[in-house]
Amino acid sequence: MVSLTTHVGSLELANPILSASGTFGHGLEMKHFVAPDCLGAWVSKTVTVVPREGNPAPRIRETEAGFLNSIGLENRGVAAYIAEVLPSLRSLKVPIITNIGGESLEAFVEAAELLSGFAEIAAFEVNLSCPNVDGGKLPFATDPHVAESIMASVRKVTDKPLFAKLSPNVSRISDMAKAVEAGGAHGITAVNTLLGMQVDWRSGRFGLATRMGGYSGTAIKPVALRCAYECVQAVEIPVIGCGGISTASDVLEFLAVGCSAIQVGTASFSDPGLLSHLAQDVANLLAENGVDQVQDIIGRVNQVPARA
Ligand code: FUM
Repeated sequence: MVSLTTHVGSLELANPILSASGTFGHGLEMKHFVAPDCLGAWVSKTVTVVPREGNPAPRIRETEAGFLNSIGLENRGVAAYIAEVLPSLRSLKVPIITNIGGESLEAFVEAAELLSGFAEIAAFEVNLSCPNVDGGKLPFATDPHVAESIMASVRKVTDKPLFAKLSPNVSRISDMAKAVEAGGAHGITAVNTLLGMQVDWRSGRFGLATRMGGYSGTAIKPVALRCAYECVQAVEIPVIGCGGISTASDVLEFLAVGCSAIQVGTASFSDPGLLSHLAQDVANLLAENGVDQVQDIIGRVNQVPARA
């Protein structure tokens, strides 16, 4: 029997596999494909204080490997989340991580304040990194000082664990990681989507109405792995790996570089049932390799001498 138990800060998770925000609905939309207890934790789509319609269509495009999205944080707002989503999650045994977003420091703080009293929420993931609002140029995605002050301000209004979701679209992700740690984050999710673009040379049109959008899928795994590793090296707080993960072996690669858990996103679109068996796949792979607890893999790259 392989133990998959892991810890992300104060959260104990039955396994290290989480859904990535925006790929699993807000609540129980995926229950027809995946039983809730197959996951270590469920991460909601981003919730903002004010409802958002999102960006104009087309806002999702398939590419040769993965897809581009520019959803624009469409959601019905915090009030609807409280009234319509949270009650249905009450009976779940799996921790719920609510992803919160905003276009200003005040908006992040207000979202956390409004949601902080709800026991159904185990932790917040603070979305500092959406590439689809203002073309990914919002300062908290790229400016360590702004990211730190958002985390510090949110920290003041909630006792819940806070995970900062970082963007890969920066020159030094380690600076961002250190900044959110200094601001009081209890963990980091690394990473959100890469800024990308698609065009049709025949028509001269852009694939997405917003021209640019977030690129995700298996092709970004090496970039995401590098970002997660750099975060692990830069900070003491736990890191949750995210980006291009679709197999048990992918999961273990992110754990090997030091991640305490991982998130699966785009792969659930091509295989909505993937997360119903991925934890078992990980357990089987570990058993085949004579490993009886997943903890033994975490940080393995630091336990063997570097290649000469
Ligand atoms: O556009 C979106 O809703 C995507 C959000 C994100 O990548 O954080």
